[in-house]
Amino acid sequence: MKDLKKVTDIEDLRKVARRKVPRMFYDYVDSGSWTETTYRNNETDFDRIKLRQRVLVDMDNRSLATKMIGEDVHMPVAIAPTGFTGMMWADGEIHAARAAEKFGVPFSLSTMSICSIEDVATHTSKPFWFQLYVMRDHDYVKRLIQRAKDANCSALILTADLQVLGQRHKDIKNGLSAPPRPTLANILNLMTKPQWCYNMLGTKRHSFGNIVGHAKGVDDLSSLTAWTEEQFDPSLSWDDVARIKDMWGGKLIIKGIMEPEDAIMAARSGADALVVSNHGGRQLDGAPSTIAALPDIVQAIQAENSNIEIWLDSGVRSGQDVLKAIALGAKGTMIGRAFLYGLGAYGEDGVRRALEILYRECDITMAFCGHTDIHSVTDDILVKGTFEYLKASLPRIEPIRWH
Ligand code: GLV
Repeated sequence: MKDLKKVTDIEDLRKVARRKVPRMFYDYVDSGSWTETTYRNNETDFDRIKLRQRVLVDMDNRSLATKMIGEDVHMPVAIAPTGFTGMMWADGEIHAARAAEKFGVPFSLSTMSICSIEDVATHTSKPFWFQLYVMRDHDYVKRLIQRAKDANCSALILTADLQVLGQRHKDIKNGLSAPPRPTLANILNLMTKPQWCYNMLGTKRHSFGNIVGHAKGVDDLSSLTAWTEEQFDPSLSWDDVARIKDMWGGKLIIKGIMEPEDAIMAARSGADALVVSNHGGRQLDGAPSTIAALPDIVQAIQAENSNIEIWLDSGVRSGQDVLKAIALGAKGTMIGRAFLYGLGAYGEDGVRRALEILYRECDITMAFCGHTDIHSVTDDILVKGTFEYLKASLPRIEPIRWH
């Protein structure tokens, strides 16, 4: 096992991933839609929230352990479903799922994964969660749900914000596809990524394992945008949620909620959890950050007297971000890029390192804020005036991000 002690934050992992992963796949991860303003705000809004330091409190015996939809988690973090994960590192979904399992956090598999549901089930021993995109071909969706049941998945995540795809400029310019097309530009780029190529030669999993060969007429997903436009069901509505919930029959998580009205709809649908998410800033550019959207949603769900769990994703790059989300009323968080950078950098070891980093940052910060148990953390740990205003449309000066 590689010694990654000198990798000290998620940014370190991002830099290594950027060097090692072919450009089109790195860009796919590290981009948002259109101007990427929402993508950036997801991170910068976290930074604006300040923490209250407390001293001379007994800091012994700390714990971040809690539950998400009744499942024990070592910290309130789950691995989010992400597309093309097996292009960040050969068999990436299997590696990430194994790292999550060993660490004690849930792993979610995307419909748009490279390794199939069956592949991940065969190579792991704990149930994972399956994320569903609803396609026009309802028979295919039915079969997909059945495959997730057969694989003993313990929750279904319904992504509610991707009936249409937000435009990510880089994916179009790079001609994103899995596997990459043998163009001169791609070949030249791949020549600079020897470890990635070597690892990829060792696996047969080079395209979308849940789809190719399973969905009618789909043998080649060369264009994600065209394929999404053709296959994803743009008519998906709350009525379908009830239908899907019945078909699935187990725990249901609705991901992509940004407004209190929709949160109430999610609660009334009988879902077990909702995820406050703007899809990592990859869908509606111009939407607020998720940490800004969270407090109103928490308030609406309390007023509704619902016990649906509220989670948050988008912009979580540190354990401090996790703690801030918990302080503002989330019961859990999900991470996408934070684990993908680890995966692209060092495979399973990198995902483990990403989880260790988040754990340590969250644990130590909680201690500085005077708490020893994640369950006792409230917005008392936040400096008043540094979070309430986030939803207001104040002018923002964007920090420069050096790549
Ligand atoms: C798909 O989920 C994407 O964001 O690309």
